[in-house]
Amino acid sequence: MDYKMTLTEEQQAILNGSKGETMAKVMKTLVMYGDAFGATKMVPVTGKMGHLVTSFGLGVMKPVYELMNKLIDAGAVSGQKFSVDPKPLDPNVPSDFLKNFVFNKFMYSVQDMYDSQLSKLGLLDDKSYTCTSYMDEVGNKPNKGDVLSWAESSAVVYANSVLGARCNRNSGIIELFGSIAGYVPYFGLLTDEGRKATWIVKVNTSKKPEAQILGSAIGMKVMEDVPYVQGLDKWIGTELTDDACAYLKDFGAATASNGAVGLYHIENLTPEAVEQGESLIAQGAKIYEIDDAELQRVKDSYPVMWKDKNAKPQLCFVGCPHLSLAQLAEWTDNVAEGLKKNGLKKVSVPTVFTCAPGVKEAFEKTPGAEKLKATGVVLSYICPLMYMNNPLAKKMAVITNSNKLRTYTTARYYTGEEILDIITKEVK
Ligand code: F3S
Repeated sequence: MDYKMTLTEEQQAILNGSKGETMAKVMKTLVMYGDAFGATKMVPVTGKMGHLVTSFGLGVMKPVYELMNKLIDAGAVSGQKFSVDPKPLDPNVPSDFLKNFVFNKFMYSVQDMYDSQLSKLGLLDDKSYTCTSYMDEVGNKPNKGDVLSWAESSAVVYANSVLGARCNRNSGIIELFGSIAGYVPYFGLLTDEGRKATWIVKVNTSKKPEAQILGSAIGMKVMEDVPYVQGLDKWIGTELTDDACAYLKDFGAATASNGAVGLYHIENLTPEAVEQGESLIAQGAKIYEIDDAELQRVKDSYPVMWKDKNAKPQLCFVGCPHLSLAQLAEWTDNVAEGLKKNGLKKVSVPTVFTCAPGVKEAFEKTPGAEKLKATGVVLSYICPLMYMNNPLAKKMAVITNSNKLRTYTTARYYTGEEILDIITKEVK
């Protein structure tokens, strides 16, 4: 095989079949992938765990399952344990007979079989299904400087930016191959040069910007570039507290889905920005100024995909990316207070909060669990996007405060405050 990058003797041997034919194919794919992006070499994956994006057993994805079987049969399982994105189904989430039928018989018909493949390949445990694998309650939190082989865009941007790990925005399966081989191609966000900011974003708002709208504005402007954000520390502080991390989780997911951002730096806050300051900014970086009017313009530009724009909301999702424990507690208090203020006992729109199974378990040990249950809100570990990704759910009037869910589905975006107002008031 012809390739441009430099390989070590060991890597070359794997490519030549020293660890079997299947492993040679895995390595060949990684080398070809790296060559396409101008990678100079392969470097070891140093993060202690992987994370896979493909968590759903979609009946139509036969080639993926065949590939997984080949890997398992050849013993080419992941050298490291991994977590995986959230499951698509949860019997607790409101769904009608027809939807259940479609989900179980046609769409996610091989979920059980796929789950068992994942566990043979190296899944950490059956609670590891979440996009926020870096939460303490889940336990897949990379260290600064770790080289990762992940693909989930919201997790990659968080690991790079907030934790200072190094990971490209890989595609599904490629990230599994990286975990299996223990090597990833060296290019892009793995390099110091690729981590330089080519945009300076100046935040000049009169109040704390909504994380999901600010992220969306930046994502749509810089696309796959790296932004260096100034002025946000004024609103979220200079310490990576639980609040600041939850804010950056939601902000980052919006930059990654409304654009294709894999890394951002927040002046005086994120690790590389604290250490290196403005020396992280590349020469000739472009400037984007954001004020209240710009955020409003961006929010007003979101198309409403509902057939009847005045329809009553039928379902509400909060928690894409999955909520942190502190966010869950805060939402619970806010919903309970809102209902009390409006003289209601239960939310007026069927509402689902989503979080990692480990976060759910921790929350269920707190008094907040009973309080949330009393409001009628359902707590689930699913991925709302996978729930909505079918023709039946597409027709529903779904509301969300997630810009990622808005981007990929027909769900309608509202800010957190607006959502709270809608679900705690009588729907007219
Ligand atoms: Fe997570 Fe699914 Fe949203 S993977 S970020 S809950 S689309």
